[in-house]
Amino acid sequence: MQQNRGRKERTGCRYGKLMRTLILNGSPRPQGDTAHLIQALRRELPGEVEQVDAYRTSVAPCVDCRGCFHQPGCVVRDDMDAIYQLVDGADVIVLASPLYFSTLTGSLLALCSRFQALYAGRVQGFFAPAKAKTGVVLLTAGGSTKEPACALKTARIILAELGAPAQFSAVSLHTDQLPAQADQEALRQIRQIAHSLRRKQEGLPQ
Ligand SMILES: Cc1cc2nc3c(=O)[nH]c(=O)nc-3n(C[C@H](O)[C@H](O)[C@H](O)COP(=O)(O)O)c2cc1C
Repeated sequence: MQQNRGRKERTGCRYGKLMRTLILNGSPRPQGDTAHLIQALRRELPGEVEQVDAYRTSVAPCVDCRGCFHQPGCVVRDDMDAIYQLVDGADVIVLASPLYFSTLTGSLLALCSRFQALYAGRVQGFFAPAKAKTGVVLLTAGGSTKEPACALKTARIILAELGAPAQFSAVSLHTDQLPAQADQEALRQIRQIAHSLRRKQEGLPQ
């Protein structure tokens, strides 16, 4: 699995605890609009950041074999093994994606379909509920979409399943007219998200 490991300096720690952020990136474009929003967030985040690029990761989609209802975890062995570990250890989970047909991209949805094993494990009582995490959504769109409600709803459902209710979001619409890297309002939203996460980690009001 191609992982984009982040810096590991100890900043923004509460009681010496490092904030761990996992970014699940649904864009295939390494220097595209979503990548620029992610870079803007990474510049501001304290702690350790891991990034998984769905289009450069070998993860098969869930085929509803129902193995996870009979034993803890997914029965399929691939890059998802490492991603489950990263989810488990994360304090913050970021879903970042361009809109494709108003929702998250196919590769990101395919990867996220494997979180069914976490749902099944919880329903069957194999796993305790996940520790409380914070969910963040970053979206870009460069076509006809005027508001990203469909993608936001899907992202919220996925993040809730991971025990990371979506508390923050930043959106760059109309990237065909204004690239995300020049979208000052989206970049301001991202700085605000990082600020809120830092304060949350330090136990301060956001
Ligand atoms: C297959 C496909 C479907 C798309 N569907 C939408 C859409 O429904 N609404 C929209 O506003 N933009 C749509 N777009 C445009 C992308 O969301 C936009 O170009 C985005 O900024 C690309 O982000 P990226 O550079 O991070 O990949 C679509 C693009 C592709 C390739």
